[in-house]
Amino acid sequence: MNKSASTIFITGANRGIGLEFARQYAADGWRVLATCRDPQNADALDALADNGDVKVFALDVTSQEQIGKLADELQDESIDILINNAGYYGSKGSSLGHIDHDDWIKVLEINTLAPLFVTEAFVEQVARSDKKLIAILTSKMGSLEDNTSGGSYLYRSSKAGVNQIAKSLSIDLAHRNIKVALLHPGWVQTDMGGPNALIDVPTSVTGLRDVLANVTPAQSGAFLAYDGAQIPW
Ligand SMILES: NC(=O)c1ccc[n+]([C@@H]2O[C@H](COP(=O)([O-])OP(=O)(O)OC[C@H]3O[C@@H](n4cnc5c(N)ncnc54)[C@H](OP(=O)(O)O)[C@@H]3O)[C@@H](O)[C@H]2O)c1
Repeated sequence: MNKSASTIFITGANRGIGLEFARQYAADGWRVLATCRDPQNADALDALADNGDVKVFALDVTSQEQIGKLADELQDESIDILINNAGYYGSKGSSLGHIDHDDWIKVLEINTLAPLFVTEAFVEQVARSDKKLIAILTSKMGSLEDNTSGGSYLYRSSKAGVNQIAKSLSIDLAHRNIKVALLHPGWVQTDMGGPNALIDVPTSVTGLRDVLANVTPAQSGAFLAYDGAQIPW
């Protein structure tokens, strides 16, 4: 690996937005630490690793044990951008009268708890980097002001929760010059977004990378879309 290049760490890098982050940063010459639950079955990611500066690691973001082990394994790394991308919409009841308890817990563990636990585990690696940036993929569906259609209780609550986590992180880490980018990727054509989504994955990730490249200390903790627009809380 090229030690002088910037380094990015990504969760959920085997498909969707996470895979495209890995692809675009690798194409730009970054060192990519790509994580996913099942590296044995991550063919698209493995193909990137064959051609670029991409290393693949196993990480289920809901496993405290795996987070701790990987943070130990990568303890000497310097991580310029840590991207908490892994996400889950919920696959069972999400409308009033059909809420599934266990699925809600799973949504909260992946979308809300994991970004904080992963950040806690890797914050020293970020602190010793040049760019010192932590990104969290949230959603406009976590915005209270934008909620005009109701429903989606599991996902909305998980993303509203992670928005607060990002805000607190931005305050708590400011004295270490670490910035926090809270990002809405748009409605994107992935397994989660579905085929009718408004934008394709490269468009979203190109925009998100532009936002990440230009985020200022004053914008740390702000709720930003892939096109740079500020989203109301
Ligand atoms: N697509 C949209 O329109 C949209 C809109 C707003 C926000 N977002 C957010 O953007 C992020 C990426 O979404 P996407 O559209 O790319 O979703 P996606 O296509 O459904 O991919 C989700 C990714 O998260 C991973 N993941 C799920 N649970 C995990 C766990 N416990 N540990 C590790 N990885 C896990 C998945 O891995 P497996 O393959 O192992 O399941 C997969 O790599 C998410 O945070 C999502 O909430 C997406």
